[in-house]
Amino acid sequence: MKHITTSTLQKMKQAGEKIACLTAYDASFAQILAEEGVDILLVGDSLGMILQGRDSTLPVTLDEMIYHTHMVRTASQHTLVMADLPFMTYATPVQALTSAGRLMKEGGAHMVKLEGGALMVETAGLLAEHGIPVCAHLGLLPQSVNKLGGYKVQGRDEKQAEAILLDARAMEDAGADILLLECVPALLAAEITAAVDVPVIGIGAGSRCDAQVLVLYDMLGITPGKRPRFSKDFLQEADDIRGAVRAYVQAVKNGRFPADEHAF
Ligand code: KIV
Repeated sequence: MKHITTSTLQKMKQAGEKIACLTAYDASFAQILAEEGVDILLVGDSLGMILQGRDSTLPVTLDEMIYHTHMVRTASQHTLVMADLPFMTYATPVQALTSAGRLMKEGGAHMVKLEGGALMVETAGLLAEHGIPVCAHLGLLPQSVNKLGGYKVQGRDEKQAEAILLDARAMEDAGADILLLECVPALLAAEITAAVDVPVIGIGAGSRCDAQVLVLYDMLGITPGKRPRFSKDFLQEADDIRGAVRAYVQAVKNGRFPADEHAF
C-alpha cells in the first residue's frame, strides 16, 4: 500500500476525497486502524483523559507523547502519524522546535499538532523551515480549557468566527500543512474549508470539512460518562472493533458521518 504523506492529503482535498482520521495510542489499535483504511493516526494528548483518567490534557508530558507515538508508529504501516505537542512544550518557537524534533526523532511522528492561531505563526514558520509538518488546531483548544472556562463551542458570534477564519488563513500562510477545527459551527467550518488550500480536519465541525477525526474510545463507546454530541458509537452497529472502524471509515468517505445531529 502507498504511504500517506502531506501531498497525498493535499491531492485528496483537491479531488474531493474525504480523509478519515482517528486517535490511536498503542500498537494494537494502530494496526487495526491502519488495516481498516484510516488515513491519519492522531496520537492525541487526549490520552491524558482517555488512558490516564485525568480531568484535562494539561498534565501530559512530552516523554509520554513520545512513548505512545513510538508504539503507534511501529504498527502504523502506510498511515500518516500525527502527534500532539503537549501543553507548555511549545511556549516559545525554539522550545517548539526542540519538542517537535523529539516527537519526530524519538517517537517517529510524521507531523506535529499544536493548538493556536495567530500567536503561533512564528512557531509554525520555524517548524516548517526545519522540515517539520504542522497541523494547526483551532476553535476549541483543550489545552486552554481553564482560560476558556470549559469545553464550549467556539465561533458562535460574528467576532469570534472572524477571528477563527483569520487564524486559519494566518496558519496556512505561516506554512501549516493541515488545519483542525474543533467544536465550531458547521457553517463556519465549511467557510474555512473553502477559504484555505490545505486540508481541514473537523471534530464537531460538521460534514463539509475535508477530513473527520474522532477520539477512538468515544467511537467505540468505551469512554466513561456522557458521549460528546459530535461523536457516534460505531461499535453499537458493528460485530467487533474492526467492523466499527471499517464502518467509521466508510461513513466518513461517503459523507454519511457526521450527520446534522452531530454538528453545531
Ligand atoms: O488530543 C486529541 O485527541 C485531539 C482530538 C480531540 C482532535 O486533539
